Amino acid sequence: MMNFPIISLERLNGVERKDTMAKIKDACENWGFFELVNHGIPHDLMDTLERLTKEHYRKCMEQRFKELVSSKGLDAVQTEVKDMDWESTFHVRHLPESNISELPDLSDEYRKVMKEFSLRLEKLAEELLDLLCENLGLEKGYLKKAFYGSRGPTFGTKVANYPQCPNPELVKGLRAHTDAGGIILLFQDDKVSGLQLLKDDEWIDVPPMRHSIVVNLGDQLEVITNGKYKSVEHRVIAQTNGTRMSIASFYNPGSDAVIYPAPELLEKETEEKTNVYPKFVFEEYMKIYAALKFQAKEPRFEALKA
Ligand code: OGA
Ligand code: NI
Repeated sequence: MMNFPIISLERLNGVERKDTMAKIKDACENWGFFELVNHGIPHDLMDTLERLTKEHYRKCMEQRFKELVSSKGLDAVQTEVKDMDWESTFHVRHLPESNISELPDLSDEYRKVMKEFSLRLEKLAEELLDLLCENLGLEKGYLKKAFYGSRGPTFGTKVANYPQCPNPELVKGLRAHTDAGGIILLFQDDKVSGLQLLKDDEWIDVPPMRHSIVVNLGDQLEVITNGKYKSVEHRVIAQTNGTRMSIASFYNPGSDAVIYPAPELLEKETEEKTNVYPKFVFEEYMKIYAALKFQAKEPRFEALKA
């Protein structure tokens, strides 16, 4: 078993560029996941965001979560829970327009830091999309354009805490799924683990690492690459000994972007491989995903072929 891919973006400059690009290619083809270090996002910005997120959770979210758990009897379940997740979340939208000023309970400092972090992540996501283009032999900017639609990409952050859990084998932090969208950048707790991906039918831990950014690919990149890159199933196991913070940012197509396999990648394929993925408007995909998130992705693609 090869180790989970950890990639230093600093090594994109100079003589090690080729080696780094090859590592990214291997991670995209064989893992659907990798962990970035030396990604250029200032560590002190990440530290501040982590502190503010944890403070916000304790101040505004924790009590509400406890009440939810006891009202649903989730802390005393005897059999596996299949319709709920052991997570406390809120969502922020950045693009096409920010909604952060409308969200309740956030301090001015938290809003400001979140905004700055999201701008950095947006740049990083676009840089990564171009590295993927380079590895795929697509022209620079192809993926960004494919996501653009009429108003540009959708970019948003899901702030989650996975509280300490008495029964992690009966209730998942987050049930297994693939992500619907494009490319996902995750700033996760550096101590409390829990994120796992499915590789060769085995659940593998995504290791916590201070100041790293975990990257994974969503269903839309699988479609556009005609399956050269696959969205990979993942889940979160809550822990019995600590709360895990996760700040996941989703760089997705605009709602009216039309998604289809890149013609250049189809040219080289045999006929049976050219009809695997449909062409659709992204928001139609999201309607289906909303109902089928925790099921296999293939029926989602099939539903859009009709
Ligand atoms: C998700 C997700 C993982 C995590 O929200 O889609 O997979 O670690 N999150 O929070
Ligand atoms: Ni996910």
